[in-house]
Amino acid sequence: MRILKANDAAIAEAARVLRAGGLVAFATETVYGLGADATNASAVARVFAAKGRPRFNPLIAHVRSLDQARDHAALSPAALKLAERFWPGPLTLVAPRKAQSAVCDLACAGLDTIALRVPSHPVAQALLGAFDRPIAAPSANRSGHVSATRATHVAEDLGADVDLILDAEAAPLGIESTIVGFAGDGSARLLRPGAIAREEIEAIVGALGAPGESVAAPGMLAKHYAPRARLRLDAEEKRPNELYLGFGARGGDLNLSAASDLREAAANLYAHLRALDARGAGCIAVAPIPREGLGEAIGDRLARAAARE
Ligand code: TXA
Ligand code: MG
Repeated sequence: MRILKANDAAIAEAARVLRAGGLVAFATETVYGLGADATNASAVARVFAAKGRPRFNPLIAHVRSLDQARDHAALSPAALKLAERFWPGPLTLVAPRKAQSAVCDLACAGLDTIALRVPSHPVAQALLGAFDRPIAAPSANRSGHVSATRATHVAEDLGADVDLILDAEAAPLGIESTIVGFAGDGSARLLRPGAIAREEIEAIVGALGAPGESVAAPGMLAKHYAPRARLRLDAEEKRPNELYLGFGARGGDLNLSAASDLREAAANLYAHLRALDARGAGCIAVAPIPREGLGEAIGDRLARAAARE
């Protein structure tokens, strides 16, 4: 495993590694991704193996632009409106896959839909430009563990299983993309709350339905995003033998945002969970977080991190 500062030479090298079927971790505006050539099934198989990810759980294909996305998926009018408003950016759309798409079946876990995202981070964009093919990239953490928002997190989780890590400091948003799918009648469904708040999506396409069985995200397992320590949520105060993850006026061993800013809290969430875990806490108590705006995604991740299985 090599870690290179994400300059032009490193990006050219990363594109070579991808072309040779290797794995490259790179920064996006949400979290670090573990990338492989989405058209190469054996490279994609290495992603599943490196993460310990079940093969029924499909990957997001990252592309450079809406134009490229249209090579892979049939985008409905509602999907197009969302793409035009939020791409490049932290939105993933799940739509019917086109037969002509070069993305391999394994990346899509054999489904007839495909998840697509156009990231805005300059390193992700530069890598997509240099490689010039879709990149399949899940979050660059071991399956079920806390996501990675820094190159060091990727190295800790994946070690020798990743060929190259492009180091571009902290991922600015710190929480995964919002995933929107579409029911048979074309109505938009929130498959995963994320870095774009529900309210912002609803302003474009109206009220979002719950996933429903037909369009559920197979990766939304109850236990996910978990540190080693147990989590106690909505904790008003710290108890003996706990470390406390604060919010707002409830300070603690670390504070997600002293200013009660949900954007800042999302950006700090995974790094703070990893840091408290590294201190050897048996239990991390987490202050109450409001559920509006980005609080929905933060609450979703905390609930899954706290789930026993
Ligand atoms: O912000 C993000 O989305 C990051 C960065 C790296 O782009 N990626 C990410 O990937 O969070 P991952 O693999 O950790 O989560 C992708 C989710 C999984 O829950 C998966 O089940 C769902 O997307 N997904 C992928 N393809 C799907 C499909 N065809 N239908 C429904 N859900 C799908
Ligand atoms: Mg993930």
